[in-house]
Amino acid sequence: MEKILLFGSLGVVTVIGAGFGYLSLRSPNHLPAESIQVPMTPENIARGEYLFTVLADCDGCHSERDLSKFTAPVVARGRGRGWQLPKELGLPGDVVAPNITPDVETGIGAWTDGEKIRAIREGISRDGRPLFPMMPYQGFAKMSDGDVQALVAYMNTLPAVRNPLPRTKLNFPVNYLITGAPAPSRNIAAPNKANKLEWGRYLVTVGGCGGCHTPMEKGEPIPGKQFAGGEPFVVSSYKAVSANITPDTDTGIGKMSEAEFIERFHQYKKYAQDGPPAMTAENFTLMPWLSFAKMPSEDLSAIYAYLRTVKPVNHSVETHPQK
Ligand code: HEC
Ligand code: HEC
Repeated sequence: MEKILLFGSLGVVTVIGAGFGYLSLRSPNHLPAESIQVPMTPENIARGEYLFTVLADCDGCHSERDLSKFTAPVVARGRGRGWQLPKELGLPGDVVAPNITPDVETGIGAWTDGEKIRAIREGISRDGRPLFPMMPYQGFAKMSDGDVQALVAYMNTLPAVRNPLPRTKLNFPVNYLITGAPAPSRNIAAPNKANKLEWGRYLVTVGGCGGCHTPMEKGEPIPGKQFAGGEPFVVSSYKAVSANITPDTDTGIGKMSEAEFIERFHQYKKYAQDGPPAMTAENFTLMPWLSFAKMPSEDLSAIYAYLRTVKPVNHSVETHPQK
């Protein structure tokens, strides 16, 4: 069955996977937000910008994007202003990625830094409600304390945008099922960058590669098919299917050298800098190439190294099918 999803279906998965047992849960598993003020250092803000705009691609859901251009790049003035996800995506309700600029009334300007961190890593909104896990907090839960603080430092510097949006309204029973999704995640140590595999796994987790590259059935990741591709992404009449990025030599990226892998991303540097061409049926994709083109070679090299270690899955995928 073809699902119409836009930016990763991670969330829906867990929701349905959580099962009806959670119906009886009254409140999500949560702790009070930590009382912390993130250091607003230039280093933190720069690292946070990288996380927001490149690696964790917060832009993908929370920013205004130009769907007429290749990979739907962010419109700079709309960074963090929030987005009402289109109905055609087939999500279980009216889903809104909120305004996360520092606007006090319509954004998160009144939140403490601790409340922001709790929402990002633990899936609890300021008022204690559980967030729909399409917001990939289950992956962000692994974000180190240093990184999540840097991210919040950068978010604090975004221009405040006044943009009132409605709140997410999920259908029954998903509105109850998500109560089981949030979980506390505190004191997360930074991965050891010297350990290439550990670093690569961290980047793949925070980068949300699995959310788009693992195929699903009935809203759940198909067992044994991690990173094997095949998830369809459809926007109006355009369609792309996520690639098999396991090391299978016939159907995955087993034959791709490290240099080719890095070039696959860096070939889009020019677009990232000068602006991309128009989006067409042929080039249509939602792989965040323009964001990821800004990843340094050492990060891509670590991602490549880690992906060599995942289970090879023989699963043939046509990434740009002719309809
Ligand atoms: C795949 C889409 C997606 C991505 C990527 C994403 N978010 Fe979200 N985010 C959402 C949605 C949808 C919600 C609202 C869920 C709900 O209302 O139940 C949300 C909620 C939030 C909230 C809570 C806001 C509130 O008013 O309750 C914060 C803060 C947030 N996201 C920050 C981030 C940051 C920072 C990143 C990147 C590190 C990020 N998000 C990446 C979709 C996304
Ligand atoms: C929002 C969904 C999405 C996310 C997130 C995503 N991808 Fe993709 N990716 C796709 C789609 C769709 C394609 C196929 C279309 C294309 O090539 O652009 C693809 C293609 C690729 C390809 C090309 C494979 C080939 O044989 O040409 C590579 C490599 C890749 N992705 C790696 C990654 C890595 C590594 C990450 C995480 C850092 C990632 N992707 C995150 C959707 C995504």
